[in-house]
Amino acid sequence: MNVKKDFPIFENNEGLIYLDSSATSQSPKQVINAIADFYNKYKSNIHRGVYDLSEMSTELYEKSKEKCASFLNCNPQEIIYTKNATEALNLAAYSLTSDLKEGDEVLVTEMEHHSNFVPWQQLCKSRNLKFSVIKVNEDFTLENIENKITEKTKILALTHVSNATGSVNDIKEICKLANENNIITVIDGCQSAPHKKIDLKDLNCDFFAFSVHKMLGPMGLGILFGKEKLLEKLSPFLYGGDMIRDVRIDDTDFNDIPWKFEAGTPNVAAAVGFSAAIDYLNKIGMENIEKYENELKEYALEKLSEVEGIKIYKPKSQAGIISFNLYNNDKLIHPHDVSAVLNDKKIAIRSGHHCAQVLMDKLKVPATCRISFYIYNTKEDIDKVAEALKEARKVFN
Ligand SMILES: Cc1ncc(COP(=O)(O)O)c(C=O)c1O
Repeated sequence: MNVKKDFPIFENNEGLIYLDSSATSQSPKQVINAIADFYNKYKSNIHRGVYDLSEMSTELYEKSKEKCASFLNCNPQEIIYTKNATEALNLAAYSLTSDLKEGDEVLVTEMEHHSNFVPWQQLCKSRNLKFSVIKVNEDFTLENIENKITEKTKILALTHVSNATGSVNDIKEICKLANENNIITVIDGCQSAPHKKIDLKDLNCDFFAFSVHKMLGPMGLGILFGKEKLLEKLSPFLYGGDMIRDVRIDDTDFNDIPWKFEAGTPNVAAAVGFSAAIDYLNKIGMENIEKYENELKEYALEKLSEVEGIKIYKPKSQAGIISFNLYNNDKLIHPHDVSAVLNDKKIAIRSGHHCAQVLMDKLKVPATCRISFYIYNTKEDIDKVAEALKEARKVFN
């Protein structure tokens, strides 16, 4: 895939090898230009002004939602714009748990990012709900979910793809099981939506959250999809601004969905940038992106396995994310040290707990090194990282 030339970050940082797209992706000039264009030509607030500029801005914002809905195969009124996936997941957690009764249960998994773990954990505590955690097996699959479901289980919140290991959950099957048991599903799609075709009608989940900055778009925009009939019933999470229809001293009426959940001035520029990112991704094709990243992953697994002392945390089913550690005579070389050595060679990888401390505890390591791919990565990047890891191991010999 010959797209590196579209990404100014590589022109401005000669020799950069960027392997941390799970944390955030780089943006092509098409996205950057669309945002600049908005600020240069159209900046004005939406849904308010009765003047051309505001109408244009409103149209760009609403068009972005239509594009997003068509990208995911859902309706535009089912798409809520938030500031990131964390806020989207908090919105789902706050609003959904406020309708539960004492003793009702929320199920999450050991492989969740903190953003899809801590909100449920904390809200279950403060609202006297039961918080249960599905375990992860040695091959990074989930233990039998059916055995964890009880009559009290009302919500199942889990990730599509683990950001810490790249492990892929069979969301379609899991949602089918949840639907049969009247359990609401909240899917963290942060590591899947940027990399594979998402068809929400086919997955049949109730809620689906992700962040635009991980899919070539700008920072400051998150998405929460919710099924229309559920959003209609759900209480708002934040109050003020566009989410209001009518305010009296004694009470307030709220706007229709999705605006009922969008308080205050939204990030219109990011919505415009997201439209450009979707166009860019669609031009390449999500199926081609998944296939390309899978090739990179297979190549990287082969190359990395040649590095002496490496332990790769290999899931049964894996997306374009590889987590590993380097050992020297059974002694862990701290991932931060590994990544610092690589940084000297202009190679950006991730080291740390990846906001998945429950999983790190399970692996009995404080942290791992992680490389994650996107369309601008190449096999040469992988060759260079494998060589650099061999050298890193020598440094800590
Ligand atoms: C699986 C997963 N969930 C949630 C998040 C949180 O995303 P954000 O920081 O954009 O809110 C991330 C970010 O790394 C992630 O990888």
